[in-house]
Amino acid sequence: MPCILLTGATGYIGSHTWLALQDAGFDVIGVDSLVNSSIRVLDRLETIGGRQPVFVQGDVRDQAVMDRCFELGQARFGGIKAVVHFAALKAVGESVERPLDYFENNLGGLLAVCQAMKRHGVFNLVFSSSATVYGKPERLPITEDAPLRVTNPYGQTKLLGEEMLRELERCDARWHVAYLRYFNPVGAHHSGLIGEDPRGVPNNLMPYVAQVAIGKRQHLNVFGNDYNTPDGTGVRDYIHVCDLAEGHVAALRYLADKGQSLTVNLGTGQGYSVVELAQAYGKAADREIPLVFAPRRPGDVDACYADPRHAFETMGWKASRGLEQMCIDSWRWQSTNPNGFEG
Ligand code: NAD
Ligand code: WQD
Repeated sequence: MPCILLTGATGYIGSHTWLALQDAGFDVIGVDSLVNSSIRVLDRLETIGGRQPVFVQGDVRDQAVMDRCFELGQARFGGIKAVVHFAALKAVGESVERPLDYFENNLGGLLAVCQAMKRHGVFNLVFSSSATVYGKPERLPITEDAPLRVTNPYGQTKLLGEEMLRELERCDARWHVAYLRYFNPVGAHHSGLIGEDPRGVPNNLMPYVAQVAIGKRQHLNVFGNDYNTPDGTGVRDYIHVCDLAEGHVAALRYLADKGQSLTVNLGTGQGYSVVELAQAYGKAADREIPLVFAPRRPGDVDACYADPRHAFETMGWKASRGLEQMCIDSWRWQSTNPNGFEG
């Protein structure tokens, strides 16, 4: 079976995609600097998948690290056929404080990955983009042809990354790229052995709610209850991370079979409010999630959810897991690993 190189492989989405690829019969090599993930993920992947992960620890911006990945792919699996590029820094607030670090890591990383791919004659790439490229949407649900605009340096690295890759494709027809615009990935693998393990105070809603449920935080601060939504709190398109992982399998098959690029939203098409999510989580964890209404968070939009039809029409992929499953699986991970991968 074809071998796929995953950058950012021990991260939240990378680790779930690793398993989805193995389940679909692919061989996988992972590379990660561990700047935002734990080496212990590898033991968990072995326990779940029954195979020892082939992993290179290092920064994708280091040419020697990338060459080692491709050489390992050649020696172990007869060559890498495509790359899924997850490796990036992803905290919106931090990107405003340290924009140059974000440009250097996310854009420098993408450039280095493409250069390594070219050196080794590999031209199929899956790029982790984000719904953040749509900024404040004019129309809902959001289709892929919606205007693109960003409001922070993190978002800018995704938009510029897309633009750089589109220019590369225009100049050299060998390149084919799947631009996957993720909405809000949540949940965890059903085994409860891997999941999202944020460092410090979680920025995102579900990991924060999970920490309230486990008793690490007293209440959820609901950022704004005067939005133009049915209950006044922000509405988002939460997608189970295992559905998202399967979207990468579909994208890799599309690149291999069709030999052309594609841009797709990976979302469910269904929006839920902050209060709805907190209530669903409370039900899954069988406890109350205390809410405290707080001011709006700068930069947030009222509502953001995908039109996911293009992903189904092109790659035959659609999300199958609902909000209840997302909460149950997140809670299984959180309650059995209260301190994440650190024991
Ligand atoms: P994550 O932080 O859990 O995973 C990213 C991984 O990349 C980490 O393990 C980190 O150690 C690694 N990394 C970062 N820079 C690196 C470098 N220079 N060299 C090698 N490894 C490096 O994040 P995630 O949630 O799994 O996100 C994966 C991708 O999806 C990112 O590109 C992110 O921007 C994108 N994305 C995430 C979300 C989300 O809400 N989680 C939404 C949209 C897009
Ligand atoms: C969801 C809702 C908050 C925390 C972010 C990035 C985006 C993408 C996904 C990478 C909003 C509310 C949150 C809390 C709250 N990442 N909230 N209390 O902002 O939709 O998207 O992650 O590409 O780029 O911006 O997700 O989970 O942070 O927030 O009330 O403690 O929950 O206001 O309405 P967001 P989120």
